[in-house]
Amino acid sequence: MSVLISNIGELVTNAPSDSSPGSVAPGFAALRDAALVIESGQVAWTGAACAAPAADEVVDAAGRAVLPGFVDSHAHLVFAGERSAEFASRMAGLPYSAGGIRSTVAATRAASDEQLRGNLARLAGEMLAQGTTTFECKSGYGLTVADEARSVALAAEVTTEVTYLGAHVVPPEFEQDPAGYVELVCGPMLAACAPHARWVDVFCERGAFGADEARAVLAAGAAAGLQPRVHASQLGYGPGVQVAVEAGAASADHCTFLSNGDVDALAASDTVATLLPGVEFSTRQPYPDARRLLEAGATVAIATDCNPGSCFTSSMPLCVALAVREMRMTTQEAVWAATAGGAAALRRRDVGHLGVGARADLVMLDGPSHTYLAYRPGVPQIAAVWRGGVAVA
Ligand code: NIG
Ligand code: FE
Repeated sequence: MSVLISNIGELVTNAPSDSSPGSVAPGFAALRDAALVIESGQVAWTGAACAAPAADEVVDAAGRAVLPGFVDSHAHLVFAGERSAEFASRMAGLPYSAGGIRSTVAATRAASDEQLRGNLARLAGEMLAQGTTTFECKSGYGLTVADEARSVALAAEVTTEVTYLGAHVVPPEFEQDPAGYVELVCGPMLAACAPHARWVDVFCERGAFGADEARAVLAAGAAAGLQPRVHASQLGYGPGVQVAVEAGAASADHCTFLSNGDVDALAASDTVATLLPGVEFSTRQPYPDARRLLEAGATVAIATDCNPGSCFTSSMPLCVALAVREMRMTTQEAVWAATAGGAAALRRRDVGHLGVGARADLVMLDGPSHTYLAYRPGVPQIAAVWRGGVAVA
C-alpha cells in the first residue's frame, strides 16, 4: 500500500541533495511544490509534484508545508505530581534550584504504576499531537532501585530512547552519604535499569553531581552497555561539557553557561549541544548563546526538556519559536535542530529527515512553510502527523 502526498507547498527533507546553494543553515534542505511517496512505512520517493509517480492513495496537501516529525531528544516524563506553585514563585522573583526535584521524587515514589503510566501516556499523546514522532524519556524521579527500575520499564513501554538518570540528584535519605548514593547508582540501581535503557545520563552541576562523580556514573553505564549523555551547565559554569566530550557523549544538554573551552570542545567533537529554550522561558534564566555554538561549528539540537519543574511544555513548535525569537537562530536552523539535530543527539539516522529510506515520520503544517512555526507562535498548526507511514494525528 503506497500513499502519495501531493501538492506540498514546501517539503522540508533535510536531504543534502535538496539543499539550495548558499543556504544560511547547512543541513536544512527543502523542495517547493513537491510530493512524497510513503511505502512500507518509509519514504520511497520525493520530488517535484508534477513528476510524482502513481500510488494506491493520494492525499492533497493543498499547498501546506510538510516537515520531518520532530525529534525531542530530552524529556522527563515519568513522574507524579506537579509544581505550579514553584513556577509561580519563580515568576514572582525566586530563582530556580535543583532542590525542587526532590518534591517530585516524593510524589513519584508514592504513585502507583497505573498513575505513572497514565501521566506518561497523556504527555506522549500531547507530544504526538504537536508533531513529535520520536522522543527520549528519562528516569530520575524514583532514585531507589525499585523506583528507578519501574521508571525505565514504564518509559520503555512508550519509546525506544530510554535514559537511566539515577544520577539526577542525591535523594534525602543519602544526604549525609552522597558517595554511597553514587555507589548505588553505579551498582545495583544500574544493574536493575540497564536492561530497559539505551542511555545513561547525569546531572553534572553544583547541587547535583561533580565531575568525578559524573565520570564514574558514565563509565559504569558504559560498562553496562549504555551510551552517555549529560545535563551540563544549566545553572552555572562547570565541568559538564568537558565530561560529556571526554566520555564521547551523544549530547551535552542545556549548555546555558559555556566557557570558550566548552564551545571549542563541542565544535571539535561529535557531541551535540542540545539547547532547551523552554527551560530559560520557564526559569527566567538567560537563553543559551546558540549563535556562538553555530558559528564555532558545533552541532545544535533543540528539545523540550518536558518535566514538572524547570519546564512543563511538551511543545516542539514552541521551542522552535523560542529558538528563533530568543536565541537568534534562523527559522531554517531551528527547524533543522528540532528534527535532524535531535536525531543526531540520539545517534539516529532513520528519523529527523525525509530522504528516501527514512522512516515516514511526517508533520503537515497548517501553513505554507516551516517559517510559520515561529511566525505564528502559540497557534495550533499541526494539521496531520504520520509515524512510520501511518496517519496518527
Ligand atoms: O533538565 N536539570 C535537571 N533536571 C531537569 C529539571 C528537573 C526538575 O526541576 O524537576 C532539567 O531541567
Ligand atoms: Fe533535563
